[in-house]
Amino acid sequence: MKHSPSISLTSFSFFFFLLLIASFSVSSEERASTPPRGWNSYDSYSWIISEDEFLQNAEILSQKLHAQGYEYVVVDFLWYRRKVTDTGTDSLGFDVIDEWGRMIPDPDRWPSSSGGKGFTEVANKVHSMGLKFGIHVMRGISTQAVNANSPILDTTTGRAYEESSRVWHAQDIGLTEKTCAWMQHGFMSVNTDLGAGKAFLRSLYQQYASWGVDFIKNDCVFGNDLNINEITYISEILKELDRPILYSLSPGTSATPDMAKAVSGLSNMYRITGDDWDTWADVAAHFDVARDFAAAKMIGASGLLGTSWPDLDMLPLGYLTDPGSNEGPHRTCRLTIKEQRTQVTLWSIAKSPLMFGGDLRNIDDTTFSLITNPTVLEINSYSSNNVEFPYISGVGPSGRNYEPSKMFPTRMEESVVEVVGLTSCKDPKASGWLIEGLDQDLERICWKKNMEGRHGEPFCLYKRNSSVKSDKEITYGSQYLGTLPLLASENADFCLNASPRRKITSSEFTRGSFSRCTWNANQIWEFHSNGTLISSYSGQCAIMKKVKANDADAGIRSWIATGRSGEIYLAFFNLNQVDMVIATHVSDLAKGLPGRSVTSCTGKEIWTDTDYIQPMNDTVAAMVDSHDSALFVLNCN
Ligand SMILES: *[C@@H]1O[C@H](CO)[C@@H](O)[C@H](O)[C@H]1NC(C)=O
Ligand SMILES: *[C@@H]1O[C@H](CO)[C@@H](O)[C@H](O)[C@H]1NC(C)=O
Ligand SMILES: *[C@@H]1O[C@H](CO)[C@@H](O)[C@H](O)[C@H]1NC(C)=O
Repeated sequence: MKHSPSISLTSFSFFFFLLLIASFSVSSEERASTPPRGWNSYDSYSWIISEDEFLQNAEILSQKLHAQGYEYVVVDFLWYRRKVTDTGTDSLGFDVIDEWGRMIPDPDRWPSSSGGKGFTEVANKVHSMGLKFGIHVMRGISTQAVNANSPILDTTTGRAYEESSRVWHAQDIGLTEKTCAWMQHGFMSVNTDLGAGKAFLRSLYQQYASWGVDFIKNDCVFGNDLNINEITYISEILKELDRPILYSLSPGTSATPDMAKAVSGLSNMYRITGDDWDTWADVAAHFDVARDFAAAKMIGASGLLGTSWPDLDMLPLGYLTDPGSNEGPHRTCRLTIKEQRTQVTLWSIAKSPLMFGGDLRNIDDTTFSLITNPTVLEINSYSSNNVEFPYISGVGPSGRNYEPSKMFPTRMEESVVEVVGLTSCKDPKASGWLIEGLDQDLERICWKKNMEGRHGEPFCLYKRNSSVKSDKEITYGSQYLGTLPLLASENADFCLNASPRRKITSSEFTRGSFSRCTWNANQIWEFHSNGTLISSYSGQCAIMKKVKANDADAGIRSWIATGRSGEIYLAFFNLNQVDMVIATHVSDLAKGLPGRSVTSCTGKEIWTDTDYIQPMNDTVAAMVDSHDSALFVLNCN
């Protein structure tokens, strides 16, 4: 029979229609295509959260944060532990387990779980809010199940697992020599070489899926606690389940990029640090590790049926509890707002999953606007080529000039930094300055004496270009002799101060410093043809000198990434105890952006809400307070 053309066309279109549906459903099933976002109960409730408290937080997340992509609500550890006097995070014998040795929610804290319903009703309620439901589980099997020697469920038969004509029990599969190092009495690995060990893990994860779980944080399996056998087998189970469940690995103490390469394809996110709490030391500790995983190209590597993300841990902001506490939220975050900004900026540009940890019932406006900042969220979800960007320099109000080549010292006590100091003008060492005319309008004054580092470039100060006139006429050119204010970098309005007050270690060496230009006498300098730069205020002369970095100063950092519309994201971080002017040459931006050249940028710095309308052709710079950050969105050509 001959088909009429119209019928052929119809079946042809229908074929494409099917193709379209197929490709649509495949892409919608792609797991964790952007870093997962949500809320986790640990930072604000430790382990003691109740069903009411959990659902209240979920409700607020759905109303206030779901629109910004916060989607997963996760119950953290020990939801199965009875909260009676003296139970803590490593007490043995207080867990609620079923006849098959599986953890089930403590019915006192999770009343809807009674009658064997597990988390089904909680998951249903979370789903009805438009959210996804996650739980935390430990490695392997509980010590309590091993002590009870529970039989193992064979989910294919619904009866006890039998092999080689015998029934298998918890004591056959529990590896007593592989208890969880940080919860010795709680859990141990199971032997995944045994059919019974595999059957036990299947019985756990199939039950989680039957409850309606969408996200599993599997703890005590990664980093120091690496348990590749369990991760591998659990990943196989999750791959075969009908329910798409994100697989998250924890903790990440001493995690390395090589470890990550072994698990990234099996999971959707994995912690790369130990627990993060609200201390500056914890925030600062994330920079090196985030850099290393970015450099190893782990950000957005392929993962379990989708993508995987190095995880910097929850954001402990807002209203919190304490680590390992038996109390709910009772205190506010101890990070300053600058430190919080730094944390959120790093988490964003390193594309870490954003799991908010504070009690949502008590979230304040500042915290809310921080975690919902549209630029932060855009960068976190959609930027690409995110890496640390080492081509920066920094000058502190203490006159510090960090050498970019030595910017990431592992042992700060070995790090040497250059500082602007003051000395007597008769000191022959003071005549090290030379004027360089860059063009008609701009001159810089550079220190010509040998200073290592800095890409072989000299340290320079820039003539301030301003319509404001100083009281003395300023003349230009190689014959220039006169007074002028000097900038830390070409486009930044931070001037060199000659405050004679601050001393470093010895009385003969006094620091210069940078601060906002004010036209005060202590910011006016006089250049002499013998190469000295005399402070009009103190009569002393500027000099560059090397000093040891302060041990508490972790340096300056920068990250770069590309946006969806070709915009460039550039973050500066000041981990030092002193405020810094941080700068990069516009032409250096290309070094962090493969295949691009950059000559000029306009844009915006988002934390100070500063617009850069005039093209920046030489330098992008910002004054960044101690522990603070700057985040630029740049349109460059
Ligand atoms: C440089 O010239 C100034 C001004 O004449 C003078 O005060 C100073 O002592 C000279 N310094 C040196 C090191 O030659
Ligand atoms: C310096 O300032 C003048 C006057 O404000 C302006 O016309 C000129 O473009 C500026 N030059 C530079 C290099 O910024
Ligand atoms: C920067 O470059 C733009 C475009 O090339 C030019 O219009 C502008 O005058 C330059 N600005 C400075 C300060 O050189």
